[in-house]
Formats: sequence, C-alpha cells, structure tokens
Amino acid sequence: MANPIPDERPGPSETKAGEDCIRPEDRPDAVLFLCSAHNLSRRSLERLEAACAAATYLPHRMIRLEERGDGLFAALDGLRDAGHSVVRVQPVGMPFPESLTSWLPGVLAHWSAQPGNGDVRLFLGPEPSRTGNGIARLLSETLAQAPRAVEGTAPRLGKPGWDMPPDFDFHLLVCTGPRCHMRDAASLTHILKEECAEAGIADRCLTTRTGCIFPCNKGPVVALYPMGHWFQLPDRAAVRRFVREVLLGGGTLRDFQFHTARLAQSHS
Ligand code: FES
Repeated sequence: MANPIPDERPGPSETKAGEDCIRPEDRPDAVLFLCSAHNLSRRSLERLEAACAAATYLPHRMIRLEERGDGLFAALDGLRDAGHSVVRVQPVGMPFPESLTSWLPGVLAHWSAQPGNGDVRLFLGPEPSRTGNGIARLLSETLAQAPRAVEGTAPRLGKPGWDMPPDFDFHLLVCTGPRCHMRDAASLTHILKEECAEAGIADRCLTTRTGCIFPCNKGPVVALYPMGHWFQLPDRAAVRRFVREVLLGGGTLRDFQFHTARLAQSHS
C-alpha cells in the first residue's frame, strides 16, 4: 500500500475532539481520508497527510481520488484485509467538490454490497468546509501569518520553452478523474507509457492526464486524437492491443472503442 496504516492500535479511550459524540457501536476503528486534488505536489500532499495523521489517533491512510496511487476500492479492500470492521471515510479539502460529495454514498454502498465486504461497516464523514466555522478558523490562523512581498520578483507570464508543444502524431487523453481512478486509471497512464515505449512510439505520443471527461461508466477512458476515437481500456492486455493495433498498426479496436467524435464520424 502507498500509505500503510500504522501498526499501533489506539486504546478505546483515545479519541480526539468530536469522536466522543459518536455512538460506541458506530465508532470507527480506522479512517480513510479522501483527497480530491489534481495538482498537489508531493510536498503539499505530505503536509496534508501529516495534518490528517495529527487529527486522529485511529489507524488511517489517505488516498487521492484522482491521479496516482490506490483507488477507492483498493484502499477499502486493504482496510478490510487489515481486519478493520468500522471505517470512517472522511473527505478532506476546502471545499471538497460537490459532485464527489453526492457520488460517494452510492459508490461506498456499491463496495459494501460486494461479496466479502459485508462485515465492514462504512460511515461517511461530513464535508469539512460545511461544518462549524472550519474554513473561517483556518483562514484567520493563516491571515495571522506574515505574507511574502511580491516586490523584487522578476515580472513574467511564462517560462522559456512554453511556446510550442512537442512534436507528436497522437494525442492521448487519459482520464484520471475520480470515477476512472476508482477503476484503476492511475495505473493505466503508466502502463500506456510503458507499452508505447516498448513499441518504440513513445516520442510519437503526447499523453495528457485529464480530469473527468464525462463517460465515467466506461472508465478507464482514453481518447485518441486526431482520430477522435474513445476507448475503454480495462487492463494491460487491452492497452497492449490498443498500442499495437491502433497506434502502431493504424487499425481499429472495435471491442474497446465506444465513441467517435462527431467531426471524425463525418470523415469516416
Ligand atoms: S472520471 Fe473519467 S470520464 Fe468521468
């Protein structure tokens, strides 16, 4: 696991603020923090993880709902396999996106309904920016810190080298939005790059990780341009065929292609 749960289990009396308002039978024995943030650097992520760790005595881990690392189901599977039976799933983020707030209850219920998961009870914590005056307290603490002067910084709108895209034949949009990520799109990006490199076409492909591009139920989703063809690539075997048959061979992959962009349809 990317963020293993510490081995030490807390004693029953070890709670932090707020945990004592939870009925004893609903008290979690682990917390899964969910972060939704595409562009967090590793350092920012580590700071956020440290803040999460400081907020609870319970065994815990944090995952991102996009981009990299274990997806939601893999993290829940890990907690189940580690013997946890009451898991608090806690969104973090100021604010946590509304679309994810409304999506999470159903997807957690879906995980609970799968064979082997019946012994794990899940609870979903509130979205932090809607509780009490959390944001206001955070902001007033932040406003008390000295700001950095902009004066003396060289003016610029960009960096050298940001003028043109690299040369490429294919533009691959790999969705790493939360619902594709849950279906392991995080690995897809890496597998895709590996397979392109192995096929000797890495420098012909510009691969861009994206947020949600709509057909979440088809995830993990890859859109290929300029062809305008969209694919569902569920595993390495599918990716390999995509690279070999479509990118290298110039053919089609009808069993994985589920959409063609309108302009491309009119040209085919
Ligand atoms: S999350 Fe990938 S299409 Fe919505």
